[in-house]
Amino acid sequence: MRTFAILNMKGGVGKTTTAINLAYILAKVYQQRVLLVDADGQANATRALLPEGEYDGLMALLSGGVICYDEIVEHTGIKGLDMVPANNMLWQIDLSCVTAVGRGTLRALRDMRDAIVEDDAYDVIVIDCPPSFSGACAAAVAASNSIIIPVLPDAFSAEGMEDLVAQIDGVRKIQPDVRIAGCLINQFHRANVVLDATERLREVAPVPVFDTVIHRTDKVLESTWAHQPVLLWSPRSSAARDFRAWVRELVAKEALCNGR
Ligand SMILES: Nc1ncnc2c1ncn2[C@@H]1O[C@H](COP(=O)(O)OP(=O)(O)O)[C@@H](O)[C@H]1O
Ligand SMILES: [Mg+2]
Repeated sequence: MRTFAILNMKGGVGKTTTAINLAYILAKVYQQRVLLVDADGQANATRALLPEGEYDGLMALLSGGVICYDEIVEHTGIKGLDMVPANNMLWQIDLSCVTAVGRGTLRALRDMRDAIVEDDAYDVIVIDCPPSFSGACAAAVAASNSIIIPVLPDAFSAEGMEDLVAQIDGVRKIQPDVRIAGCLINQFHRANVVLDATERLREVAPVPVFDTVIHRTDKVLESTWAHQPVLLWSPRSSAARDFRAWVRELVAKEALCNGR
């Protein structure tokens, strides 16, 4: 069983879009049993895939109120894709959880992962992280095998690679074994400035960069309004094609889906 955290301390880079589409494609195209965990207090992934409502979800787990994942997992209506929803209370879990007092919080998601492995309940967990190194983010990292980092092809990303290295070092303090699967360039389009930034990112990135890039298209924005993965909303769009190609690359590189 593999756990991917979709991580970048910057907001608006495509973490939630990547998490939703990765989870959907693994379930739909690769017939994996996928659990998408929303670890962001903005609850964007939750709102995208679940009916409107009040969910305790991850908050109940991290605050110690729930011991079995069964109690917080919701079905999305998409075959093979379940979710642990978020709510805005997640903001309250600050980094105090990495101190001795809050060790239970830090371990809560990892314990859930271990229980899922024991029950053979899912093949893949995908965690959508918040844009800050909060307690929920630390718990997500502590439960992960691999990290996927969406980035924008701009100068801030290319020049911000040192920040990224610092973030990764921070992550390794929590989970020394975690691997960086790679950076995923999002919102790619044919403009000289983007091509230059993409080239520069590939040169300076301290971690692997996926060959596949995700094109910028309004279909992604529309899919947000439609509360659907872009593959479902606009299967022939460039972003749908890109996400399919990227998941194919990820599955090959990470040797996923073996035996199923
Ligand atoms: N490839 C893309 N093309 C166009 N818009 C995109 C693309 N990827 C993400 N977006 C839009 O950019 C915004 C931020 O994306 P989101 O996935 O929410 O980022 P994050 O989770 O990192 O904050 C959203 O409105 C989303 O619809
Ligand atoms: Mg997000």
